[in-house]
Amino acid sequence: MNKTIIAPSILSADFARLGEDVRDVEARGADWIHIDIMDGQFVPNLTFGPPVVAAVRSYTKLPFDVHLMVNTPERLFEDLVKAGADRITVHAEACTHLHRTVQAIRGLGLKAGVALNPHTPLSVLDYVLDDLDLVLIMTVNPGFGGQSFISAMLSKIKALREELNRRGLTDVHIEVDGGINAETAGLVTEAGANALVAGSYIFGHKDRSLAISTLRS
Ligand code: DX5
Ligand code: ZN
Repeated sequence: MNKTIIAPSILSADFARLGEDVRDVEARGADWIHIDIMDGQFVPNLTFGPPVVAAVRSYTKLPFDVHLMVNTPERLFEDLVKAGADRITVHAEACTHLHRTVQAIRGLGLKAGVALNPHTPLSVLDYVLDDLDLVLIMTVNPGFGGQSFISAMLSKIKALREELNRRGLTDVHIEVDGGINAETAGLVTEAGANALVAGSYIFGHKDRSLAISTLRS
């Protein structure tokens, strides 16, 4: 796996200037744009849907890494493809037929990811891991930006990297999301994560180029 991927979460961007903020983080070295869609049901918070994703598509060439914190996520897939999504990650806890859901994402030509809440064991991935492009380890309980990193997730990241290596799945990304900053970035990459989502740390930093390069190093 090459350099660490940095994915700013637009949850912490200025929603009134979303296009400009997305363009800005691209210019400052971001690799993916992380897009948090919340339904007010699976998580207590409510954000936006495919029309907003479509509206910002023309502001950047970076891949759109869509994190669906919604129940029955498959109802959004086709609209997200039209809106320009590149990767879709669903929560294992929100999918009764996770295997089918993952196949549906790939069937649309997109990269497929599965996210796990902090309390969800890695074993739920035992029979889908070989079909995934990415596993998202939530390092906070999903729903809000600006929460504190849960350090118990470090052993989960390490165990996942070992399992991926054991299966020869060296191209599967381990992404982490929640409480990532200058201190925690080193811990998660050491444990085996290679894609870091950061919202408040990047968008709240007065020098976003420095924030992104700090996370990457
Ligand atoms: C939380 C979202 C995150 C959020 C992270 O449920 O999935 O992507 O934006 O925010 P920070 O980096 O501020 O913890
Ligand atoms: Zn997210």
